[in-house]
Amino acid sequence: PRQQTVTGTLALSVFTAVLGSLQFGYNIGVINAPQKIIEADYNATWVHRYGEPISSRTLTTLWSLSVAIFSVGGMMSSFTVGVVSEWLGRRKAMLINNMFAFIGGGLMGMAKLCRSFEMMILGRFVIGAYCGLASGLVPMYVGEIAPTSLRGALGTLHQLAIVTGILIAQILGLESLLGSEDLWPVLVGVTVLPTVLQMGLLPFCPESPRFLYIIRCQEHHAKSGEPPITEVGDMLAEMKEEKRRMDMERKVSIPELFRSTMYRQPIAIAILLQLSQQLSGINAIFYYSTSIFQKAGVQSPVYATIGAGVVNCAFTVVSLFLVERMGRRTLHMLGLSGMCGCAVVMTVALSLLDSVPWMSYISMLAIFGFVAFFEVGPGPIPWFFVAELFSQGPRPAAMAVAGFANWTANFIIGFGFQYVAELCGPYVFLIFAALLLFFLVFTFFRVPETRGKTFDQISSGFGHASPDIMDMELDKPSTELDYLGAEGSLN
Ligand code: GLC
Repeated sequence: PRQQTVTGTLALSVFTAVLGSLQFGYNIGVINAPQKIIEADYNATWVHRYGEPISSRTLTTLWSLSVAIFSVGGMMSSFTVGVVSEWLGRRKAMLINNMFAFIGGGLMGMAKLCRSFEMMILGRFVIGAYCGLASGLVPMYVGEIAPTSLRGALGTLHQLAIVTGILIAQILGLESLLGSEDLWPVLVGVTVLPTVLQMGLLPFCPESPRFLYIIRCQEHHAKSGEPPITEVGDMLAEMKEEKRRMDMERKVSIPELFRSTMYRQPIAIAILLQLSQQLSGINAIFYYSTSIFQKAGVQSPVYATIGAGVVNCAFTVVSLFLVERMGRRTLHMLGLSGMCGCAVVMTVALSLLDSVPWMSYISMLAIFGFVAFFEVGPGPIPWFFVAELFSQGPRPAAMAVAGFANWTANFIIGFGFQYVAELCGPYVFLIFAALLLFFLVFTFFRVPETRGKTFDQISSGFGHASPDIMDMELDKPSTELDYLGAEGSLN
């Protein structure tokens, strides 16, 4: 397809939307560094209330709960993404979601002052709920407003904002900045700043024209009622085709996604891609890197963690530039195989650590490599791929199911990793290596390429009978239907 340009409104809308992703990342990264300091406050509260220090078991439980309840909030809210985004529209849903950010940020920021770890835990739950909704609404909105030839690149900006959020949190979390005894409430509370900015900017962003035109049938609005996002003519032609199909499609609920033979395959792909992202073990690194680096004998584990955050950002940018050239499928497979290799190297390095001291450098490099390969494919791609796999009718339900799968797996890793790591010692990453290999094989045999295809072309690839036909059709560069995106322009 020919190159499409980014208009000011498109840039503003994407920027505004991914402020939500920024907070998502921030809240993933924020509890890693100041763990000991916040735990000390939990203890102080305990002493204040009960006149004795907290037992280490209770403290561990309270801390694990504070970390993991975030993903429980995410699980619960991501499941409602479909209903909420249809009811309010994508833009208003993002706007109202900010309420959760205020409540969550407020509760966490005030917890120390109120001497209440309950407030901190509840705050983490509420901010998790915010992030769960954002993780569905943002990729859906961005995918729907993006011109076809830029959908992957713009979709990757969701992930870029997440990793930027993680890095900002890691840096601000340094004890010399906000990760100190007095300032940690500020550290967890500043998450409301992007919220304020987003609320200020959202009124200037148009609602997704696909939502207006296909769902709400307001062609008038989609075309002229609001500032144009891209060359609307292009999009309108594409949307007309989508709508023509939609009119033949019944509206799709979550159970129907699984029952209908038409959707079973794309929903299986969507779920497995989310699982490949989370069960790759990436969040074992982002939640526990400091202690992993410590065990690997790395000298300044906190700085190594920040190093991982920098690598994480850098390679998301690499992916941003590659995704429209090399395609989703290739990058995802490249990422999975690289991660698998790094996991094996890490295992070897960790198990030789006692006899060969310089292995600590190898394991650090292996972790950096693991993170780099993650961001090449498995990080950014699953998020926007789901929006691509489905047409307008089933998309919201599919986003909900995929988001739920993602957050559930996130919870399992966040909660279970430390226990399994204790059990398996240096071999823990072999489990991830095995899982990565499985997802690689799955991607090779089952995941189609979607680069440069309109939503309609993608979903009709699944509509047609057998998977072999589907593979052939989707792998073939789209030429015949390109008139939808190119010459069909009304501008
Ligand atoms: C992806 C994952 C998230 C992870 C992050 C790391 O966005 O969804 O769980 O923490 O990548 O960069």
